Amino acid sequence: MIRSVVTGTGSALPARRVSNAELAAQVDTSDEWIVERTGIRFRHIAGPDETTGTLATDAARRAIEAAGIAATDIDLIVLATATPDQTFPATATKVQAALGILDCVAFDVAAVCSGFLYAVQVADSMLRTGVHRRALVIGAETFSRILDWEDRTTCVLFGDGAGAIVLEGQEVEQDGRGILATKLHADGRYNDLLYVDGGPSTTGTVGKLRMKGREVFRHAVTNLAAVMTESLGIAGIAADDVDWVVPHQANARILDATARKLGLAPETVIVTVDRHANTSAASVPLALDVGVRDGRVKQGDIVVLEAMGGGFTWGAAVIRF
Ligand code: UT7
Repeated sequence: MIRSVVTGTGSALPARRVSNAELAAQVDTSDEWIVERTGIRFRHIAGPDETTGTLATDAARRAIEAAGIAATDIDLIVLATATPDQTFPATATKVQAALGILDCVAFDVAAVCSGFLYAVQVADSMLRTGVHRRALVIGAETFSRILDWEDRTTCVLFGDGAGAIVLEGQEVEQDGRGILATKLHADGRYNDLLYVDGGPSTTGTVGKLRMKGREVFRHAVTNLAAVMTESLGIAGIAADDVDWVVPHQANARILDATARKLGLAPETVIVTVDRHANTSAASVPLALDVGVRDGRVKQGDIVVLEAMGGGFTWGAAVIRF
């Protein structure tokens, strides 16, 4: 059978790192409140020359290098973002051009914080048909550009960045490497709990992020625990056999509560929310790259990715790495 195998990971962060104390000088907040309620200590914020496209390209280059292939070996780019460089064309085509890939399939996926999980399932489906061979799957965001910097309930929570993986369709045995299961959900009734108050077809503006955080929090723990259980069931993997959970990095309390609900040891959870904050679609591949590069996530490990965000949308993936 063909499975999509992760052959490389990469990530990129803007040069500028902003502390909670710096934000406390701008809005009515404190380092103490942010750390206690979210676990966030720092976030990276894009400068004028850094965009979703440039961050995505840097992350993609590192993933390609880690995979030991040439950029021109890529025949599919799926880029998850809610903050594209332009309304159109897709930021994926900017990455394609920057990497010097003359022909491939390239498009964006919009599922906000779950975008990377959506992109993984789309790429996995396309690779398993055998039509495509090597995919770049990217999550990249510049949420700093859609934040209301006067709204303390949202502006302290988010950051910018990008993460990427190379997925290769390989013939494997039943116990071989690759994506074992993906499971996605959406429930559009909750649109008004987390949204941007603008868009090309409504206001003609980009808009700013609005969130009812407490309500999102309640749904997040329930939905994430459920979808992880579902995806492990599809993969035929017991929770005890999970080596690493790479969650969407929205709030340290959500990570703790979700792991507890599944009976997973806290040491199995890769945490980057303290230094990256919530980077939406970039947060899972950014955290995965951190775990791979610091030597925790190794070939053959069982890795569960999970995320939940605006829509609501949510999902999980189980990978034999
Ligand atoms: O990525 C998509 C998924 N997103 C999420 O998963 C986010 C989920 N939600 C959360 O992470 C949390 O709900 C928040 C971090 C957003 C908020 O934490 P909370 O413990 O739910 O706080 P709260 O919204 O209930 O607010 C508690 C208090 C309020 O004051 P009152 O009404 O109790 O007087 C807020 O006005 O904290 C106040 N507050 C702040 N205080 C200082 C809200 N933001 C701040 C702030 N600094 N930045």
